[in-house]
Amino acid sequence: MEFFAVKKIKHLKYKQMKKITNICCIGAGYVGGPTMAVIAEKCPHIKVTVVDMNEKRIADWNDANLDKLPIYEPGLKEVVEVARNRNLFFSTDVDDAIRNAEIIFISVNTPTKTYGVGKGMAADLKFVELCARQIAKVAENDKIIVEKSTIPVRTASAIHTILKATGKDVDFQVLSNPEFLAEGTAVSDLHNPDRILIGGSQDEKGLEAIECLVGVYNNWVPRDRIITTNVWSSELSKLTANAFLAQRVSSINAISALCEKTGANVEEVANAIGRDSRIGAKFLKSSVGFGGSCFQKDILNLVYLCNYFNLPDVAEYWMQVVKMNDYQKHRFAKNIINTLFNTVSGKKITFLGWAFKKDTNDTRETAAMYVADELLQDKAEIHVYDPKVSEEQIYADLEYLQTHRVGHFVEQGDVMELSEIKKLVKVHKNPYDATKNAHAIAILTEWNEFKAYDWENIYKNMLKPAFLFDGRNITDKNNLNEIGFEIYHIGKA
Ligand code: UDX
Ligand code: ADP
Repeated sequence: MEFFAVKKIKHLKYKQMKKITNICCIGAGYVGGPTMAVIAEKCPHIKVTVVDMNEKRIADWNDANLDKLPIYEPGLKEVVEVARNRNLFFSTDVDDAIRNAEIIFISVNTPTKTYGVGKGMAADLKFVELCARQIAKVAENDKIIVEKSTIPVRTASAIHTILKATGKDVDFQVLSNPEFLAEGTAVSDLHNPDRILIGGSQDEKGLEAIECLVGVYNNWVPRDRIITTNVWSSELSKLTANAFLAQRVSSINAISALCEKTGANVEEVANAIGRDSRIGAKFLKSSVGFGGSCFQKDILNLVYLCNYFNLPDVAEYWMQVVKMNDYQKHRFAKNIINTLFNTVSGKKITFLGWAFKKDTNDTRETAAMYVADELLQDKAEIHVYDPKVSEEQIYADLEYLQTHRVGHFVEQGDVMELSEIKKLVKVHKNPYDATKNAHAIAILTEWNEFKAYDWENIYKNMLKPAFLFDGRNITDKNNLNEIGFEIYHIGKA
């Protein structure tokens, strides 16, 4: 079968490949926006239109002031500046973009379901399904549909079923082309990817569609870094890659708890094991817990899939990665409460950082909101400073969490009204105001600027004893100890 597929691709090379000149992407979010901006930058001969039903989002992408782009990513505004209105367009006219495109990327959100069958586990595919139905309705000629959103295995075949049911004389090829960019480094990941993965059906039309997409990426990605597979391998590889990465973080976080008990130092352990080339040094940074829109969602997807196919032991194995992450966030919050003499009621705790990692304004699944929620249950006063996250976003995260508390160590607790949250949580534009008169500081995101603060000054203006809980191990423990801080680092006694 493999041999057959290889032969077919070779044969197709001699055929005139369809030259792609028009691409559209449905969904102008953290994945669709940067990915399309880079495709447009690298392929000036292709018209790229990014559409979204969210008018405000599109208006922000079109804002003359590039500092107002809806997502923050280092290097993104420079790329948008080059390509926008040259061959990169942002629009709300979804139908028009579908009609004109040869390749349509689907890059809409696929959150974990919060209702019905698969609640809390399966991906909610309603947005993907709506896209498929819209494409089916509007398309008048052959289209290549590319799933970019993280989706469960076998979604491509669901999309295909919807598209096939149109009764039109139009051929739809559905490809899986998972995104491996990490937020905060999205532009450099897109410029220089480790690999591009494209899955498609292994018949002649499928292989032809794969080659069309290969041709697009090949404008800047060497051919040997573009992997082609069948659809399901591609879909499953995305879930597996994220599960492996998350598992590394949970593994080192599990060890961090043991380090604190034994006197070992988790950074020394991570360095020592990471030097083994079979293990490797990346993704061994112990932290307050991983966040972001992908890790947890993808593992839950994997777990759901395993249970669906009656593989409960495999499901349980991966579930433990999420459990350990919940444990780490809970352990951090509990440590703050215990250290502050078993109560934080009425105490000012300053959060430095709210985003789920540095160099992004994305807060989805950020550890910060879970830690904040636990402290709020104990009636802490939380003051937040994050260089890129807006006040509205922080309130929206906490409000959402009130009715969506899930996790292994999460107690249901009181549901707070937004007005009550606003009384207890203040958002600052300046770290020095945020930390003034604080009982404790908690570092939740590893923003570089935190390292360069005038920590003596911060210490002077805090209540004593001045506690610092560094959930990212970015501060210099010895220096801050000398200044007078009572300091806690993850995984260090
Ligand atoms: C991830 C994958 O890396 C990317 O390939 C995929 O396309 C989407 O999901 P992302 O979630 O954007 O990307 O960021 P990533 O850098 O993977 O970090 C995820 C979380 O793990 C963050 O909260 C980060 O702070 C945390 N993390 C990461 C650690 O706590 N320690 C580490 O060593 C690495
Ligand atoms: P991701 O991180 O996967 O990019 P985001 O939530 O940042 O996810 O972006 C997804 C975008 O997709 C949102 O801006 C949302 O408005 C858009 N979207 C969802 N469904 C549709 C649809 N049917 N048509 C157009 N845009 C859609």
